[in-house]
Amino acid sequence: MAESIIFRDRSKLSPKYIPNELPHRDDQLQYIQNLFKEAQSDPDKFPLMVLQIVGPTGIGKTSTVLRFSKKIEEDFANNRLTIKIAYVNLKLQGGNKYAIYRFLLERISPELPAQGLSAEEMLRYMLQYLRENMIYAFIILDEIDYLIKITKEMGIIYDLTRLNEFDPDKPCNIKGVIFIARSTEFYNKLDEAELSTLGKVPLKFLPYSIKQVSDILVSRCSEAFNEKTVGPDVIDEVSNITAIPAINGDIRYALDLLFYSGNLAESQGSSRINLEHIRKVHGQIKPTIMTEVIEELSKNQKYTLMAVIRALRVKKNQYVDLKEIRLQALEVIEEFKLRKLDVEDYLDDLQIRNIIEMRSLKKIGIHGASLQELESMLKKRIKHNDKDNNA
Ligand SMILES: Nc1ncnc2c1ncn2[C@@H]1O[C@H](COP(=O)(O)OP(=O)(O)O)[C@@H](O)[C@H]1O
Ligand SMILES: [Mg+2]
Repeated sequence: MAESIIFRDRSKLSPKYIPNELPHRDDQLQYIQNLFKEAQSDPDKFPLMVLQIVGPTGIGKTSTVLRFSKKIEEDFANNRLTIKIAYVNLKLQGGNKYAIYRFLLERISPELPAQGLSAEEMLRYMLQYLRENMIYAFIILDEIDYLIKITKEMGIIYDLTRLNEFDPDKPCNIKGVIFIARSTEFYNKLDEAELSTLGKVPLKFLPYSIKQVSDILVSRCSEAFNEKTVGPDVIDEVSNITAIPAINGDIRYALDLLFYSGNLAESQGSSRINLEHIRKVHGQIKPTIMTEVIEELSKNQKYTLMAVIRALRVKKNQYVDLKEIRLQALEVIEEFKLRKLDVEDYLDDLQIRNIIEMRSLKKIGIHGASLQELESMLKKRIKHNDKDNNA
């Protein structure tokens, strides 16, 4: 394949690729490693350990756990032991309890036929198989809340947290079960027994800060792009876009944005990605941005946002000055026949909601959204509300 001016290796942006470096997830990785540290030295003494991990989409939960699973595989191999990792994404895999156990069985003990076995027998045979072959296993159930939300609970959590009770007098060769979920909301679908086996406090993954997103993107870009194709301005813009409420820190979105922008730059024969590429692609792939967020704004917040948008459009800059926003506010007052509008009172709110960015009173901007679209959407909302109010 011809060499690309833009990409060093575009597959490094694919969601399937797990990078070696996961900046800002060291603590979490360390925590998980610590928990299972002693499993490799004397696995038969190590009890079945259950861990749950909770945090919103796209912030490195799966990657961190898979990175850990590579590590534990290596550690076992170094001690001439075998641990098999069975990873299931329940959102992709779907299915009922039976199908899920069959999948586990195929991963862990492929020689065993699953045909004709009950769900419980499958687990029992799997445990027996591991013991007889003197190998170990580790189970990761990703997006467990998804499964539990859409189906009636099927006792999966109950079964898998008690694998060590199938043959209480023999060691259980499944050393760990990790459940990954977006939030703890699924708890209210569980019964007492399951809750108590899950019991312990989950390991929480918090969303990355803008600075952290930016570090991560720099690290990912160094693998995926040629030198100097992605400048700091692009990293900044993508990080800011990633922080807007509609995206909510989802790194996957940031990587998609970079991937498609790279393709666009390449197709235009450009030697680097620029802000226009980013905005254009974002305009095409963004989720229905901010409509909900805008609906929640008070009238004056909406008018203030309108003034910010217009100032940015008039100035054609990434940022504008408070003075320019005040000027635009005067026009908004006239156009919508308001008594007054003190924009200073509302800018903070808009910033807290991540709709605008205020670096200082001289540097106020909006990221990611097409200003034109945003303005027309705002106008519609304002008109709509007026109608409601008059009715
Ligand atoms: N700290 C990080 N460093 C590098 N890439 C990351 C980091 N965190 C997340 N990613 C990338 O972002 C995407 C989403 O991460 P993922 O682990 O799937 O998130 P989650 O499981 O929380 O939804 C993946 O492509 C992953 O490689
Ligand atoms: Mg995940």
